[in-house]
Amino acid sequence: MERQLSQKWQPDSWQSHAADQQPLYADTAAVTRVLDAIRCLPPLVTCGEVDKLRGQLAAAGRGECFVLQGGDCAESFDECTTEPIANKLKILLQMSLVLVHGLQKRVLRVGRIAGQYAKPRSADVETRNGITLPSYRGDIINRAGFTAAERAANPELLLRGYEHAALTLNYVRALVDGGFADLHHPELWHLDFVRHSPLEAEYRRIVQAIEDSLNFMETISGQRLSESGSVDFYTSHEGLHLLYEQAQTQFVAEAGRWYNLATHFPWIGMRTADVAGAHVEYFRGIANPIAVKVGPFMNSEQLLALCEVLNPDNELGRLTLIHRFGATRINKQLPVLVEAVRKAGRRVLWICDPMHGNTEITASGLKTRRFENILEELEAAFTLHEQLGSILAGVHFELTGDDVTECTGGARGLTDTDLQRAYKSQVDPRLNYEQALEMAMRIVARKARK
Ligand code: PEP
Ligand code: CO
Repeated sequence: MERQLSQKWQPDSWQSHAADQQPLYADTAAVTRVLDAIRCLPPLVTCGEVDKLRGQLAAAGRGECFVLQGGDCAESFDECTTEPIANKLKILLQMSLVLVHGLQKRVLRVGRIAGQYAKPRSADVETRNGITLPSYRGDIINRAGFTAAERAANPELLLRGYEHAALTLNYVRALVDGGFADLHHPELWHLDFVRHSPLEAEYRRIVQAIEDSLNFMETISGQRLSESGSVDFYTSHEGLHLLYEQAQTQFVAEAGRWYNLATHFPWIGMRTADVAGAHVEYFRGIANPIAVKVGPFMNSEQLLALCEVLNPDNELGRLTLIHRFGATRINKQLPVLVEAVRKAGRRVLWICDPMHGNTEITASGLKTRRFENILEELEAAFTLHEQLGSILAGVHFELTGDDVTECTGGARGLTDTDLQRAYKSQVDPRLNYEQALEMAMRIVARKARK
């Protein structure tokens, strides 16, 4: 650790550390050419937005607002189309509406969007019918189809990834800036399916209550309360592919700091959180707010070492710890880490990802997650943080605004046999729009019970 801190940081200083989960390219000259091209392209986000988010995350760390982070496990280039993007924005807006109303707090919305294209894999290869090929690692690296050509790491996809991120973000920004996120027009976020949902009545009641209070406030103040003028939707992705992240890392002279301008809020995945590894080295030098996934194999010493390297100034808002233990482990494992961080006086945000510790395989071989296990971990997270006197600053979900069948359970009671109907994810199973909305309602219901 000391060795790391004393070493001078550069956007490429991670290259002298062990980098896990990086693709192997056959044509290294092509990789250089593509990265040079990306380096010349304009940034996707600005340092002003990134700084603003860091400030807002600090407020979330003090319990003044609540973070809702969500989106696909892996975005796909094929789904960079109108409906899936708008639907993802809609479900996040609907969930945030429910949360704002129920928690009586501002909600900070962060998508796993516009760049969530690189995936860590537990196995380097996949075997089907006696044929072994490299694992699919996300659209920015290779393709999901099971042929040697599709599974080869292709440097051109880095450029395609940058472009698809830009196209996605452009549309999201247009919607948000065009008033789509304005609380006055929740009807714009309407997802067709809510009409047939068991949750419809409850959702409509919440929308009505918000409209009533907006009208009330505006009548009293004589002013229109508008949300539309401000950027309040942020992007995030796992900063896994370090050559790509490096290519979008820029020194901002006015700020005197380096920023990753490919996203507002990058995170380090569970498999690449080694304090001596390349990912931690890269992340320590960027000025963005950053997060680390904290899983069942992280102990207190490792976590404190990460806090020191990644947030040496102990600044609230800089470092978020996204814990993902699984419903059966959280009660035993979370308190130890929260206590250790508290004792060491480390200022962090805690966010619960109740998805990644609750993945299982059905009898027919599909990856799924059960709504009740996800909810159980989430409720345990709220309870534990309350008991420990710390703050759960937000939640992190894998979800989609579409009508997929990847997770079981929820108000519609999806079973293992329903999963075949619309299982689309190439990697982890996501909550569908209805399960995601229900999750937000359950968070709020828990607060109301107290
Ligand atoms: C993910 O967020 O998709 C992921 C791979 O998570 P983790 O690093 O927590 O396993
Ligand atoms: Co995932």
